Parts: sequence; structure tokens; C-alpha cells
Amino acid sequence: MPKSQYIWHPFTQMKLWLKDGPLTIDSADGIYLKDIDGNIYMDGVSSLWVNVHGHRHAHIDAAIKKQIDKVSHSTLLGLSNTPANELANRLVRIAPTGLKKVFYSDNGSTAVEIAIKMAYQYWQNTGHKKKTQLVHLSNSYHGDTLGSVSVGGIDLFHKVYRKLILKTIALKSHGWQAVDELEKLFEKKGDGIAALVVEPLIQGAAGMLVWPEGTFRKMRELTKKYNVFLIADEVATGFGRTGKMFACQHEGVSPDFLCLAKGITGGYLPLAATLTTQKVFDGFLFDHKEQKTFFHGHTYTGNPLACAAALANLEVFQKERTLVKLGPKIKFLAKKLKMFYNLPSVAEVRQKGFMVGIDLKGRFEDRVGAKVCQAVRKYGVILRPLGNVIVLMPPLSITIEELDYLLMATYRAIEEYEK
Ligand SMILES: Cc1ncc(COP(=O)(O)O)c(C=O)c1O
Repeated sequence: MPKSQYIWHPFTQMKLWLKDGPLTIDSADGIYLKDIDGNIYMDGVSSLWVNVHGHRHAHIDAAIKKQIDKVSHSTLLGLSNTPANELANRLVRIAPTGLKKVFYSDNGSTAVEIAIKMAYQYWQNTGHKKKTQLVHLSNSYHGDTLGSVSVGGIDLFHKVYRKLILKTIALKSHGWQAVDELEKLFEKKGDGIAALVVEPLIQGAAGMLVWPEGTFRKMRELTKKYNVFLIADEVATGFGRTGKMFACQHEGVSPDFLCLAKGITGGYLPLAATLTTQKVFDGFLFDHKEQKTFFHGHTYTGNPLACAAALANLEVFQKERTLVKLGPKIKFLAKKLKMFYNLPSVAEVRQKGFMVGIDLKGRFEDRVGAKVCQAVRKYGVILRPLGNVIVLMPPLSITIEELDYLLMATYRAIEEYEK
């Protein structure tokens, strides 16, 4: 079976790659992945937070195959295609009210980058030239392209690029204190602020930091009051992860921009969408000669195969009543997670829906998270940590029994690490 020494892996210290025992996935079925040596592993992080209904789901497989027989790619620059049209209609139907336009791209970073550029250009196009600044939360993560790094607040990932990126305003505090800080900032500088970028309810890459209930709603109130756009980055939280289709819906928030990616295709193909309002869209409607078009687009924008997968993904949500079935699983998780506090190395356990972070004590250089995730492999589970935080984020289709196994395996791996 082929191995390769030529891949430079993302977010990976390649010096350690061979030492950590590289694993090559060859096939998958449901929530299980199979490597080239025939070993089977539970996909405990949904192949980096994307898989929703399991791998090789018959309905999504069939939809992609059917689309292949029609057209695999045709450009959205100057043309449209059937699945892209249908998906846009469907997304507008299920999104928070007021989001009426869909701009496609192909990953979470670009979904955010597009929202940022649109927000900025809207104000430029409509004569609010002073509104240029972007505000983001501390510990924020919105992707790895330079625009999204500009609104990132995780030193480990972002510090090295500080001189290369846009100047933005980062809030310093968390929770209700951050809301107060935001209000003061808007009072003083709201006229110069184009948008606030937020991961609603839970900051994933920061290590699953949960925000107090009501803080997101309050941020929305403040953005309205001070005429600042709200960009909700639901790249991680979208498509059921928090228990509702979109995290915004927990707090009745309709943002000005909604960024979607990851779970949009059920974890099958790269696709992203930035949804926005009629008001924003109208801010780009000018005579051609005024040069106020949104000059942005990616080659594979609105790819028909990816859109067909996304449509099938949404159909499965309905057919299998995925969100209804998720409720008891979330409760089961919450109940079982308490046992992790019996482990001396556990500092905190955080959960929002089907997003879990088990925060372990220890120094960065000890690679605690990596060691636990290595240890859990012998129980047939794949996990990927965020520093010292063990992330559990299985496909939404996992059963209670499988969830129980995932928790037990993780518990044992931490226990072994402690010995
Ligand atoms: C909230 C959030 N935004 C944006 C991104 C970037 O998405 P991508 O890796 O598809 O560029 C991520 C990825 O984890 C994310 O969690």
C-alpha cells in the first residue's frame, strides 16, 4: 500500500510526523475509518469537524454520482448551474430570517474573507468612507488566509503574521465583560467600524470556549444600535453541531453575514457559502462604470458536485430527523462528561451541543493532547487535539452506544497518560 514522504501536512510539526506514526486512511463506512493496514477507527472528530451523517452515506453518494452524469464543474462567473441554484434557494429557506443572498466559495477561511470584504466595500460603496475597521473577539479563529488571520486572536497560530496582516481591533475580555468592552468601543469608535466578527456561542479552535447565554444576542443588539455589521462565522457551528441547524438560532439572532462551510456538504466536498441581506446586496448595485462590483470569485465557486452533495446533506437532515435524534445524544454527552472530573489531569470540560473540549493540565511543550490522542488509537478511535484540549466532535449520526464507547476510550487514554 502506498505511503508518501512528499506531503507537507497542515498544522503539523513535520519533524514529529514520522515519530508519531503516520496513519493513512484508505476507506470509510458510517462513523468508521479504515487505514491501509486494515485497522478500523471511530472518526471521533468527524474528519476535522465536517462529517455529519457518516461516511459513504447512500443518499449523498447517489446524489454525487447522479450529478457526475450531468456535469461535474461549470463556472459561476457569468453562468449558473442547477445544483447551485437549488442550494441557494434551500439555504435562504433554512437560514435566519433576512439572509437573502448566497455567495459561494470553497472553504471556511474564504467564507469569512468574503464577508469581511463585502462588509468593508459596502460602506465604501455607499459613502461611509470612515467605516473601515474590523473588530473581533479574543481567542478568535476564522481561518488561515491573511484576511481571516487578521481577525484571528490565537497567538500560537497568528502572532508570527502580525506584521503581514490588516490592523484590527481585538477585544481583550471574555463573556459579559467583553460585551461591556464592546459597548464602550462602539460608543467611542462606532463610526469607524465596519463589522464585528464572531463565532457564535462557542469558539472552537480556541479550545471549545463557551460563551454565556445571551452574550451573542446582546452583541447583535449593539451592532444594530451602532450601525456596525455582524458577521456570524458558523463554519464550525453550522449544520447541527450545537443542536440546532445554526447556532444563531439559539439566541434568535439574524446576522448581516452568515459564513458556512465544513458540514455544508455533510463532509464530502469542499464548499462554502457567505449569506447576506438584501440591504448589503443593494449596496453593490451601481452603473458598471462606477466600478463598485464585488470583484471577488474563486475558480470552483458553486461547484455542481459539491452543491449536489450539500442538497443531499440537507435532505438527509429531514429524512432521518437528525436534529430531533441529536437532542438525547447531547444530553447523554452532558451527563457522561461529568466523569472526566474524576481524572486529576482534567482542568475543565466544556460542551455546547456536539462540540466538546476536555482541557488537560500541562505545559505546551509536553504535548499532552497529542499524547492522549496517540494513546486512544489503540482503542480504535481517531482524535485530534487543540493543544492540551481533547476535542470530541463525532458525526451527528453516531449512536448512544458508540458515543459511550468514544467516551470510555477517551477516559482510558487520559488515565493511561496520567500513569
Ligand atoms: C469558526 C471557523 N471559521 C473558519 C474556519 C476555517 O475553515 P477552513 O479550514 O475550511 O478554511 C474554521 C476552521 O476550523 C473555523 O472553525
